[in-house]
Amino acid sequence: MSKMELIQPIQQHIFADEITSEIFLGLEQKQKSLPPKLFYDEQGSRLFGQITKLDAYYPTRTEEKIMERWIGSIVEEIGSNALLVEYGSGDSKKTELLLNNIDNLAAYVPIDISGIHLTKITKSLKERYPDFCIVPLIADYTLTFELPEVESSYSHKVAYFPGSTIGNFYPAEAVKFLKRVHSTVGKQGSLLIGVDLQKDVEVLNLAYNDPEMVTAIFNLNMLNHINQKYEGGFILENFRHKAFYNEAETRIEMHLVSLKDQLVNIAGREFQFNLGESILTEVSYKYTLDGFAEMANEAGFEVKEVWVDDKNYFSVQYLSTQA
Ligand code: AVJ
Repeated sequence: MSKMELIQPIQQHIFADEITSEIFLGLEQKQKSLPPKLFYDEQGSRLFGQITKLDAYYPTRTEEKIMERWIGSIVEEIGSNALLVEYGSGDSKKTELLLNNIDNLAAYVPIDISGIHLTKITKSLKERYPDFCIVPLIADYTLTFELPEVESSYSHKVAYFPGSTIGNFYPAEAVKFLKRVHSTVGKQGSLLIGVDLQKDVEVLNLAYNDPEMVTAIFNLNMLNHINQKYEGGFILENFRHKAFYNEAETRIEMHLVSLKDQLVNIAGREFQFNLGESILTEVSYKYTLDGFAEMANEAGFEVKEVWVDDKNYFSVQYLSTQA
């Protein structure tokens, strides 16, 4: 009989009450908002996977092409014996290229907020990669978290934050987040990060308004997630998806627009939505290389390498902790 290995991800406390307070706080603002991490229940993680395959959604495909084209240089920067920590591992698909190519990888710590998803993914990763430790962590990486103990020894830590998810943070928050990554990887540590770049407005608008409407379903699914996990009473048909590039702020904004005057009860509290009023569910900042470097420097990182595609749509950057 083959030995069965139980996959037990370490679960950081994600307090439902704290998220409920975040929901209340967001909905009390003049511009109502909800945090984008609420997209990612099991269904949302699956829908995001579908988005990454859409013709209109260029970021994932472009980032993958860059990674494939430059994997030799990337793993050279990473060096051998690293501990790789991935922020928001999702289905870990794009990580496989790194897992297959990093020289003597010591350990891999995938962090994700979607526990069910992470548990499934880890099971299959462990089967395929028996040569290094895999220590999954269910956590909200937008808050502080403890890096789990790994059994193997390693020479340095490399954080991996692909997909331009950094764009979900407002600039001041992005700097704070990068500072926390900096302290997590410590001296000799580094960060490999995907950063989406400013480009033609039409291209940007199409990427968040795909003709297949998967992005619309993904956006609306946040309400379904709140209904199921946080005692929400949203009626999904009473809201519609809206996304556009805000040129002045250099960011995509995703909203859910109320289609009527309505009251919605969430965990015992009532919220009023007027016809046409919106909930801001996501910002996705687009950067210039200089703009991003400035932000990285503010957080104590130095941009060591930048790889881009032919069209300059997207960048993969290697940041090291400054001496
Ligand atoms: C996962 C945050 C990088 O901002 O493009 C995709 C999420 N939202 N389509 C992005 C998303 C709508 C995505 N990130």
